[in-house]
Amino acid sequence: MEEVIRLENVVKIYRTGGVVTYGLRGVNLVVYRGEFIAIMGPSGSGKSTLLNIVGLLDRPTKGRVLICGEDVSRMSSKKLAYFRNRKIGFVFQHFNLINRLTVLENIELPLVARGMPRKYRIELAKKALIMAGGDLSWLPKRPNQLSGGQQQRVAIARAIVGSPEIILADEPTGNLDRASAKIVMQTFLKLNRAGNTIVMVTHDPEVANCTQKIYVIRDGKIVAVEEPDPSRCVIETVK
Ligand SMILES: Nc1ncnc2c1ncn2[C@@H]1O[C@H](COP(=O)(O)OP(=O)(O)OP(=O)(O)O)[C@@H](O)[C@H]1O
Ligand SMILES: [Mg+2]
Repeated sequence: MEEVIRLENVVKIYRTGGVVTYGLRGVNLVVYRGEFIAIMGPSGSGKSTLLNIVGLLDRPTKGRVLICGEDVSRMSSKKLAYFRNRKIGFVFQHFNLINRLTVLENIELPLVARGMPRKYRIELAKKALIMAGGDLSWLPKRPNQLSGGQQQRVAIARAIVGSPEIILADEPTGNLDRASAKIVMQTFLKLNRAGNTIVMVTHDPEVANCTQKIYVIRDGKIVAVEEPDPSRCVIETVK
């Protein structure tokens, strides 16, 4: 099996005003192509820190990070930006959409950064929104004219519009009701079946149980790997 993510003894130390905080205390993790994994753990245990490092939004203090076999610390800033744009799609708990742009413009953003002509951008944005369980009538609207569940589907469309092979999601259902959480998880499962590798942070057992493997993180370290129970996945439990 092909490794798409490898973390070797990754340590993250935050230094703010003389105060030292450990985000991660030596994490080892390998994710293979096509896997769908969940990361669970208490608040402050390092879940977002881990995801941000994998997503190239932050750098480790110590240790090695490989994405698609390439050592991130050896990449130029140009290559890092390329990897962020092409290889990784990020979904956040608070959607992180831009309200002064339309839904269409939000979804197109990763393609604008690539210099893709408008005609193709619109085509791909529509395809992504449908894949994410959204509706094309949302395209001219502003994100804040949509419900939370709808906004998250737009955010997922933005994350997948450029066909990244890795999708990272930090509490993607954290602000959603059960019905919306179910729709969002159906989308992630569909993306996984289509070949995407997915790493999802969640504190919701009914979300974690939809994945293939649950890593438990505590105090900056992975302390257990658990087998999910698919009969307790939100898709099965919410009618
Ligand atoms: N930018 C930062 N500066 C200083 N400390 C930070 C920073 N980001 C995170 N930390 C600290 O690192 C530790 C891990 O934080 P992290 O955000 O990764 O936790 P989490 O597991 O995502 O928690 P939650 O479930 O509340 O989102 C915490 O002690 C946190 O206070
Ligand atoms: Mg977090």
